[in-house]
Amino acid sequence: MRDVVTKRTRYPGPITEAKKHAHSLVDQGFATDEALAQVLHRYPAELFDINLYDYDDAGQVSLRTGARGNLSGDQLLAAIQAGRLWVNLRQAEQGCPGLWAAAMGEFARIQATYPGMRAVTNAGQLIISSPVARVPYHFDAAGVMLFHLRGRKRLFIYPGDEAHLPERAMEQVVARQTTEELPYTLAFEPDAQVMDLEPGEALTWPLYAPHRVDNLDKFCVSLSMDFQTWPTRFRNGALYTNAVIRSRGGRPRFTEGMTTPELAARWAASLALKRVGGLESRIAHFERDFEPEVGAQDGARALNA
Ligand SMILES: [Fe+2]
Repeated sequence: MRDVVTKRTRYPGPITEAKKHAHSLVDQGFATDEALAQVLHRYPAELFDINLYDYDDAGQVSLRTGARGNLSGDQLLAAIQAGRLWVNLRQAEQGCPGLWAAAMGEFARIQATYPGMRAVTNAGQLIISSPVARVPYHFDAAGVMLFHLRGRKRLFIYPGDEAHLPERAMEQVVARQTTEELPYTLAFEPDAQVMDLEPGEALTWPLYAPHRVDNLDKFCVSLSMDFQTWPTRFRNGALYTNAVIRSRGGRPRFTEGMTTPELAARWAASLALKRVGGLESRIAHFERDFEPEVGAQDGARALNA
């Protein structure tokens, strides 16, 4: 089964399957309640994503989004621990520089175990989520190393073939015409590689592989580090250029069949397109539905109700 999944994954890069690695970030004290409350307290409000996910019987997700509000770090932590919230602190490289520096050391050590893997940029999010939170099926247009710090998570990692990861959907995500959610059906479930993560474990998977996450009834904290390599830069640029061509009525070839020089040319074209405005993002602005609140249902108080 695993072998079949590996072969069906397009552009996997040097990481051929999901694999765990040990890390020392928990032992270094970054994930205590005290440390987390401090991070939450001082983190810039504009770098918070606070999501509340609901799922129907067919596994289809609906999303409400929250604003940071005025809770202290301690109160925010309590609302997350008792609620049903998924809090994503963006730009962890700036927002929690101590944790980030330590994580970059761990990344370098793990990267060295993959011959040919060379990240050219790294960025990250600190994800602090309620015991019952679940992240829907999506892909990241990057490599990912997920450093798990608190609680238990179950990762479901799917093949990156056209059935599970349609290139047209990838184009829409890369060009920011939609959020990172992909078409999903319960019929994908037998195709998943399933990995449970404990504190002190990091997980990597093939570049672009679709995945989803269930927290296993415990408050969870993870640092999600994403990274670009030259091949992912070229691929993302080519996907962006394809999105622009498609928006103008063209029918571009899929990047899957392109050689490296062809991908590089389309990456260069994407830089020029972005300079002249390219495609306007459709996800820059949206209304917030709630603010975190200790003791409220789901840990959320509705706004404008
Ligand atoms: Fe992800």
